[in-house]
Amino acid sequence: MIETPALETRELTKCYGERSAVADLTMRVMRGETFGFLGPNGAGKTTVVKMLLGLVQPTSGDAAILGRPLGSLEARRRIGYLPELFRYQEWLSAREVLGWHAAVVRIARERRAVEIDAILRRVGLAERAGDRVGTFSKGMQQRLGIGVALLGSPELIFLDEPTSALDPVGRADVRALIAGLKAAGTTVFLNSHLLSEVEHVCDRVAVIDAGRALAIGDLSELLGRFALRISFESIDAALHAELARRDAEFGRDRTVLLHGLSDSDIPDVVAGLAAFGARIKAVQPIRSTLEERFLEILRNEHERTADRIARPR
Ligand SMILES: Nc1ncnc2c1ncn2[C@@H]1O[C@H](COP(=O)(O)OP(=O)(O)OP(=O)(O)O)[C@@H](O)[C@H]1O
Ligand SMILES: [Mg+2]
Repeated sequence: MIETPALETRELTKCYGERSAVADLTMRVMRGETFGFLGPNGAGKTTVVKMLLGLVQPTSGDAAILGRPLGSLEARRRIGYLPELFRYQEWLSAREVLGWHAAVVRIARERRAVEIDAILRRVGLAERAGDRVGTFSKGMQQRLGIGVALLGSPELIFLDEPTSALDPVGRADVRALIAGLKAAGTTVFLNSHLLSEVEHVCDRVAVIDAGRALAIGDLSELLGRFALRISFESIDAALHAELARRDAEFGRDRTVLLHGLSDSDIPDVVAGLAAFGARIKAVQPIRSTLEERFLEILRNEHERTADRIARPR
């Protein structure tokens, strides 16, 4: 049997009056993938997730989730969701919040206590399990929200800005948690404008702005090729000629930049230069960060749009 994608959208569109929040979004996330959905504030990330969960009705287009049509209850039961803005009843304890949601996702009564204890440990709230949510800090509430999303071991989990309230330790915890989900084969859909975070955990990303996907692909593809900075002990005439042939940019202190390389080129480049008698002190890949690439993608798109408007048809 061919496995269906974890989710698939076809020209998914949502308009609020004149404004289009999401426009013609077509994409696919495979099972087991950790997918980053990246975009600035107001890009349409939350609206997409809400449509996928059946909480917002699309204006047009279509989507399937775990092989089922939008709104399928059967799919919904196999999905976990951390909403971006949420509040639990202040008078309930963390354990009670989880207990209530465990009933909603139909975890068998006799298994609930064990599963809830495991989740409390996983999100670092075991010590505060009996405390009321009203006494929790923002970060603790966010950890509890992640715990709720984990209930029932969902096959697909949507995390909408899971670390917005977390301190650096909390962020590292969430990163480790996502790595654990990935190792267990869970599909993770991560909404974020924190590029550094997506960079650390996601296999593939989509960059979205003003409701449109500007780029979708492997992180390494989106990051593009990089330059290699190589420091030599000395550069003699033969090595100099060879470097010049390779289109090198000569810097200070016998340091050279070789442009347009990818990871797989590094061993050959080093071996090739060593064959010319080069004694190499250091090799360092210099790539634009995802942050730079992200801004570049947004900038290019804005320029293209401006160009289209400025040019008479
Ligand atoms: N219920 C609504 N009514 C009218 N407009 C809405 C509604 N929900 C969202 N929008 C608009 O749709 C656009 C996309 O919003 P959305 O919340 O999906 O963005 P986002 O990418 O999640 O942003 P953020 O990073 O700030 O969470 C925005 O222009 C927003 O104002
Ligand atoms: Mg949002």
